[in-house]
Amino acid sequence: MRIAIFNQKGGVGKTTTALNLGAALNRSGNSPLLLDLDPQGHLSSIHGKAPVEANRSLFAFYQDIRNLSELEIAWDHIGHLIPAHQQLIKVDSIFGKGPAILNKLRNGLEALEATNDRPTLIDCCPYIGVLALNAIFACDCLVIPISTDYLSLQAADHITRTLQVLEPVLKRRIERRYLLTRFDRRRRMSDDVRSKLRERYGDDVLDTVISENVSVAESPSLNQDVYRHNASSSGAHDHTTLLHELVERGDLNITLK
Ligand SMILES: Nc1ncnc2c1ncn2[C@@H]1O[C@H](COP(=O)(O)OP(=O)(O)OP(=O)(O)O)[C@@H](O)[C@H]1O
Ligand SMILES: [Mg+2]
Repeated sequence: MRIAIFNQKGGVGKTTTALNLGAALNRSGNSPLLLDLDPQGHLSSIHGKAPVEANRSLFAFYQDIRNLSELEIAWDHIGHLIPAHQQLIKVDSIFGKGPAILNKLRNGLEALEATNDRPTLIDCCPYIGVLALNAIFACDCLVIPISTDYLSLQAADHITRTLQVLEPVLKRRIERRYLLTRFDRRRRMSDDVRSKLRERYGDDVLDTVISENVSVAESPSLNQDVYRHNASSSGAHDHTTLLHELVERGDLNITLK
């Protein structure tokens, strides 16, 4: 099963969710594959030892130089990563927007899964272009992190409108889950944003919220997920709860150990 993590708003917790949901999966006995589909390469830099050459990154897959299976590298305590490269920024201009390029990632992942089926998490860039469309077209479920502030509500409406435009092209509903991040229970705004999101998107809003947590913020600079940094933190607890909810809802078809 493939989950893409996308919001065109920057800094809402996409990479944080990919990292820590990946670690939660690993701890549940389901080692995932993580794809860094963001030219900024934040997820790859958290890995700490990801190759720096473009021809060992997802860019080589888009250039048809390598298959996805040739690009994966091991990630201790998580699973595997296919790293990004800043050249990915060129994918839009080089490869255009035809149907072949829009389905490229989906086809590549299907070929990979034929021999190695595991949960896949795709960390997206903060804008809609060929890369994000590739992730949306490839995924079974889209997780949309929403940082808990008022501007994020506008961003949620924006992405929802984008999905409504894409659905007739895809000829199916794009399953989506809105995930509140950086939630601060002491602020009235947090509950307010959650209520407004629920009014608009009902059951597509996850019950799980990811609280503002210092261990979540610190761990990337140590090249660690939140469990390795502080397994007893609220951040670790929240990501375990997120995994359980996604499994209960059938968004991840796995057995938890
Ligand atoms: N729950 C949290 N508690 C504290 N800090 C957080 C939390 N979630 C994210 N952050 C911090 O917020 C910043 C942005 O998070 P992150 O990089 O995951 O966002 P993003 O959506 O991937 O950003 P971009 O759009 O640039 O890719 C980071 O410094 C991260 O450590
Ligand atoms: Mg990111």
